[in-house]
Amino acid sequence: MKVLVTGGAGYIGSVVTRVLIEDGHDVVVLDDLSTGHRDAVPAGVPFVHADIADAGDVLAREPFDGVLHFAAKSLVGESMNRPELYWATNVCGTRHLLDAMRRHSVPRLIFSSTAAVYGEGGPDGIGEDTPPRPTSPYGTSKLAVDLMISDECRAYPLGAVSLRYFNVAGAYGPCGERHRTETHLIPITLDVAAGRRPHLEIYGNDWPTPDGTCMRDYIHVLDLARAHVVALQHARPGHHAIYNLGNGRGFSVREVVAAVERVTGRRVPVTVAPRRPGDPAWLVADDSRARAELNWQPQADLDTIIADAWAFHQQRRHTDGLAGGGTTS
Ligand code: UFG
Repeated sequence: MKVLVTGGAGYIGSVVTRVLIEDGHDVVVLDDLSTGHRDAVPAGVPFVHADIADAGDVLAREPFDGVLHFAAKSLVGESMNRPELYWATNVCGTRHLLDAMRRHSVPRLIFSSTAAVYGEGGPDGIGEDTPPRPTSPYGTSKLAVDLMISDECRAYPLGAVSLRYFNVAGAYGPCGERHRTETHLIPITLDVAAGRRPHLEIYGNDWPTPDGTCMRDYIHVLDLARAHVVALQHARPGHHAIYNLGNGRGFSVREVVAAVERVTGRRVPVTVAPRRPGDPAWLVADDSRARAELNWQPQADLDTIIADAWAFHQQRRHTDGLAGGGTTS
C-alpha cells in the first residue's frame, strides 16, 4: 500500500516506518521535527517537513491507500500544565487531517491512541469496553480524537483502527527513544545505569500497589509496530476498531529498576520523590481482543525490551559521543 506516516521521524513513527518498508509498503513521512529527528527516517524514504495541518498538500499529489497518524504531543506531565497545546495539536491537528483525507478519498486511518484514555486501572487489566476516564489533558485529547474518528467512520466510508498503547519501550536497530527532554522511566533508568545521572527519582512509594510504586504494562516498540502493519490490512470502510496493545502483565517501578540492574549489570541508585500529577497507580492491558482479532502476539518480555533499549543507548553514546546531561524525542 501507499501510505503517509505523520510523525514518522519520532520514536514510534520511525520504527513503524521501517517495519512498513520491510513489509513492502510505499511510505511517505511527514513530520514538523518539533520532537522528531530527520536522521530517524530511513534513507530513501520521501520526507516532507511540515505540520499535520498541511498534510492535505501531500495527499493531493497522488492517491494514498492510508494514513498512519503519530504526530502528537504526548507527555502526561506537560499536558497538565499546558492543556491548550494538547487540544490544539492532537485534536485540531487531527481534525485538519481527517478533512484532508475525506477531500482526497483516503480510505484507511491507523491512529496512535493511548492507555491514558482509560485513567485509573487495576490488577485485572483494562479492556477496550472499560469506560474511559482520563486523568490528564493528554488522555482527554486522545479520547476526543477517538470519538471524532468514530463519528467520521459512521458518516463516511473511512475505515479506521485506533491502537491504544500501554508503555512503549525498547528499540529497533538505529531507532530508539531520543527525547530532547526525557521523562520516561526506562531511558532515564538506563541513563542512571550508564552513570549519566546520579539516581532515579521514584515518583511516589505510597500508591495502592503491591510495593507502593506504580504498575505499568511495557510493550516492545517492534511488537507495537507489527500490530500497525496488521491493523492496516484490518481497516474496514465505515468501521472504527479499537485495540489495546500491551503485554498483559504489570511491573512496578521498583521491578523495572531491578530488571535494568539485571540486564545491564550496573547499579541504579534511587530516591523517593512526590507523586507526579496525572499518573494513575495501575495501567495494565487486557489485550485479548488484539490477540484474537488481529491474530497478533507480542514477542518480547521486559528483559528483552530493556536489553534492546540498552543496546541502543550504548550505540548512541558511541555515535553521538554523548557524555553527561540528558538524552536528546
Ligand atoms: N517514573 C518514575 N520516575 C521517573 C520517570 C517515571 O518513578 O523518573 C514512573 C512514573 O511515575 C510511572 C512509571 O514510572 O509510574 C512510568 O512512567 P513513564 O513516564 O515512563 O510512562 P507513563 O506511565 O507516564 O506513560 C504512559 C504512556 C503514555 C500514557 C501514560 C498514562 O507512555 O502514553 O502512560 O499515564 F498516556
